[in-house]
Amino acid sequence: MEDPESILFKFKGYYFYKLRLNIDFLENLEDFEIREDDVFIITYPKSGTIWFQQILSLIYFEEHRKRTANLNTVDQVPFLEYYSKKIDFAERPSPRLFSTHLPYYLFPSGAKNKKPKIIYVYRNPKDVVCSYYYFFKNVILKITGSFEEFFEQFLEGKVVGSLWFDHIKGWYEQKSHFNIQFMMYEEIKKDLRGSILKVCKFLGKELSDEDIDSVVAQAMFENMKSDPRANYDIIMQSDGVPKKGHFLRKGTIGDWKNHMTVEQNERFDKIFQREMKDFPLKFIWDMNDE
Ligand code: A3P
Repeated sequence: MEDPESILFKFKGYYFYKLRLNIDFLENLEDFEIREDDVFIITYPKSGTIWFQQILSLIYFEEHRKRTANLNTVDQVPFLEYYSKKIDFAERPSPRLFSTHLPYYLFPSGAKNKKPKIIYVYRNPKDVVCSYYYFFKNVILKITGSFEEFFEQFLEGKVVGSLWFDHIKGWYEQKSHFNIQFMMYEEIKKDLRGSILKVCKFLGKELSDEDIDSVVAQAMFENMKSDPRANYDIIMQSDGVPKKGHFLRKGTIGDWKNHMTVEQNERFDKIFQREMKDFPLKFIWDMNDE
């Protein structure tokens, strides 16, 4: 397996991708000027970031919803910590939409006063590790090793996003300082329309039934997968390296059962029980779980 350090950059105890990172920007991130009407989608990697980038863009931009403009989802809701050399965030009109994988302690401190709207999307970590493995293997093309090796790396937190447990617990424990809504990937999968309505309510956005229908349709897995503007295909093609797989891979619940051995699963459960003891948010591990 390729040395994970070759693509990772550690800053204040947290792993970023080296690529597209602007260290000066990162060093000043704490003072990044937040606006009250900014909206953030926060995730640990592989938890549905692109999905929520798409949903937010569809909710906010009529030209996206009605497809009257040729918009790239990831440009509509750009990452805060990446691409900052390309985008002047201060020039962007309000409301600005952002996505980020930042842990709570690196998030701009102005958010505690300005209270921008934050949506934290989380996904059961067994599916996260599987999705992550394929992302590295087929999209980033940086690992040739087995799932087993990647699984160990994930449990050590030697991946972008560092330790999954720290990320979600950190944000949850700090939630009283922020205007934050937690959403679960699996619940969105099971009830896309209901989830979109919940998000609109949190954002204070009133859309007509017809507009909601349009958001729902364009946020469905099959439709995003076939739309190169909504699935990273355009960005992935731009580096000229042929990929073995797609960023939108399966979009299901419970794929971990096809990858984890009984032993790995038992070990994961033990760690999960230890780390997430008394953690109040619910998790869904199987499509049939309520
Ligand atoms: P899989 O690899 O399990 O398919 P992120 O954007 O945070 O990297 O998350 C990517 C994961 O979210 C991928 O999971 C991807 O397929 C899934 N995803 C993206 N859009 C989705 C959608 N509309 N419905 C369900 N899953 C979606």
